[in-house]
Amino acid sequence: MVIVKDERMSRKRTYLMCPPERFTVAYAINPWMDTSAPVDVELALKQWQLLRETLARLGHTVHVLPAEDGLPDMVYAANGAFTVDGTAFGARFRYPQRAAEAEAHRAFYAEQGWAYVEPTEINEGEGDFAYLPDAYGGMILAGYGFRTEPTAHSHAQEALGRPVISLQLVDPRFYHLDVALAALDDKRITYYPGAFSAGSQRVLAQLFPDAVVADEADALAFGLNLVSDGRNVVLNSEATALAAKLTSAGYTPVPVELGELKKGGGSVKCCVAELRR
Ligand code: ARG
Repeated sequence: MVIVKDERMSRKRTYLMCPPERFTVAYAINPWMDTSAPVDVELALKQWQLLRETLARLGHTVHVLPAEDGLPDMVYAANGAFTVDGTAFGARFRYPQRAAEAEAHRAFYAEQGWAYVEPTEINEGEGDFAYLPDAYGGMILAGYGFRTEPTAHSHAQEALGRPVISLQLVDPRFYHLDVALAALDDKRITYYPGAFSAGSQRVLAQLFPDAVVADEADALAFGLNLVSDGRNVVLNSEATALAAKLTSAGYTPVPVELGELKKGGGSVKCCVAELRR
């Protein structure tokens, strides 16, 4: 008898990234940020460049948003908006230090001719929103508790016309959804249950019984802050245990080193916004 393992299929993606040319840790708005720890901008740029090249080598298109003065966290491009089916749902940042990033992203979408939804509530874009186009006909997962307001979830549901499942984050180390959960393909996720409230853990277990469940060490290594094309999973090189779990589940882990950007509280996914036309 021949046992055919699930074949994981990759799909060509379009991404938006912003180089860490102005990256520093000038303020602390999450537990990972230590303003007394020096940042090596040259190294950050080198690591970022390698991430960009990795995505290009996998066949994906990467757009680049120029870095702006006075916005050291702009490298975390995932926070600038959330796109579904050609509509960009704009971000409104929680902290004033990052507020101006939203306008840079809005201008990008305007120039590229996207439909743009003005945010009315605080939400940090793909940092707190994930899209599963093939789960239950197309479903959005959304985090709240530290950054994004739950009222932004209902706004996203109205604006994007997809059901939004609200998930409560309870551990300040995992302050955004994208450091605790990731889409592996159009219908499958990986996540660390301990980052979520008991009720949200039950919701995730009910909706995604086939999820790849990560442990605390995987999450602390920023393993869940990954970018997957459905087959190739680009993730932080320190997350070796999660990489092994992904291999067993039929995916191909592609480790990248992003140590400098960890100092701001982010890794692969934070640096990459997906543009879904
Ligand atoms: N220093 C940034 C902040 O605290 C990091 C953002 C990380 N981005 C993400 N998508 N999780 O806002």
